[in-house]
Amino acid sequence: MKSIDTIQTMTSTALKARMNGERIVFVPTMGALHEGHLTLVDEARRRGDLVVMSIFVNALQFGPGEDYDHYPRTLDDDAKMAKDRGVDILFTPSHEEVYGSPPVVTLNPGALGKEWEGAARPHHFEGVLTVVAKLLHVVQPNVGVFGQKDLQQAAIVRAMVRDLNFPVEIVLCPIVREADGLAMSSRNRYLSPKEREIALLLSKALFALRHAFAKGERRASALEAIGWRMLERVPGLTPRYLAAVNAVNFQRVNMVSPGDAAIGAIKAGATRLIDNILF
Ligand code: PAJ
Repeated sequence: MKSIDTIQTMTSTALKARMNGERIVFVPTMGALHEGHLTLVDEARRRGDLVVMSIFVNALQFGPGEDYDHYPRTLDDDAKMAKDRGVDILFTPSHEEVYGSPPVVTLNPGALGKEWEGAARPHHFEGVLTVVAKLLHVVQPNVGVFGQKDLQQAAIVRAMVRDLNFPVEIVLCPIVREADGLAMSSRNRYLSPKEREIALLLSKALFALRHAFAKGERRASALEAIGWRMLERVPGLTPRYLAAVNAVNFQRVNMVSPGDAAIGAIKAGATRLIDNILF
């Protein structure tokens, strides 16, 4: 595995690979890698010749008071895991390299960026889109691989690629979970044992919705009520949202159809966690 930390070297390496006819597949991350990230690498390996992973904790997508300063940075472990899993190039630019001067121009995710995670985290998706656009320009991949774990993020990235004609295919991989159902997340390492128990209720609530859907319930309000009952009045758990939405435009639906999603966010102690399931 080759490590690159400048934009210039990454750009010229990508350009050379493209000229040699290699298919570049790109997995953007913020590091603190876990099995969820690594299955994206597996998918990337299947889809191309040169697998590029970026590790960059993007200040632009964190709000004031969020965990930018404390976000886990475990580069040595990450590099080993990435190498063992088959990453060809690990791109790890510094903050100064990416944002030498604070960006004047950023990308606006429109209505898609205002709901749910966007409502809770103003400017979050603007920061995500801006860095993803920059990284796509630098890495020049044929394919970008994202996780269903951040379903709204994936929908917004897909909308950007479509609306701004980025010459890249966006692929989505299923959520990887712990044995008990908790969606893997870099932020799970913030959880105390008690908070981890509480956090598990979010996936349990989403699975309960899916179970009720499988039994024939189609009314979103009835499905949502099943989940809310499991999340309310639990000490230490603050439910943020739980809703049945269209997985492309993230509008709430009245009647749920296959392909729609149930999305949820909670706080377990001080840690904000998100999860979702597809019906
Ligand atoms: P990060 O949270 O590190 O996630 C990187 C990628 O891994 C995302 O596409 C995310 O959806 C995926 N992922 C995380 N946990 C997963 C899980 N349990 N199962 C499957 N996929 C999972 O998302 C970001 O970083 C950033 O916003 C980024 C896109 C890199 C822009 O800064």
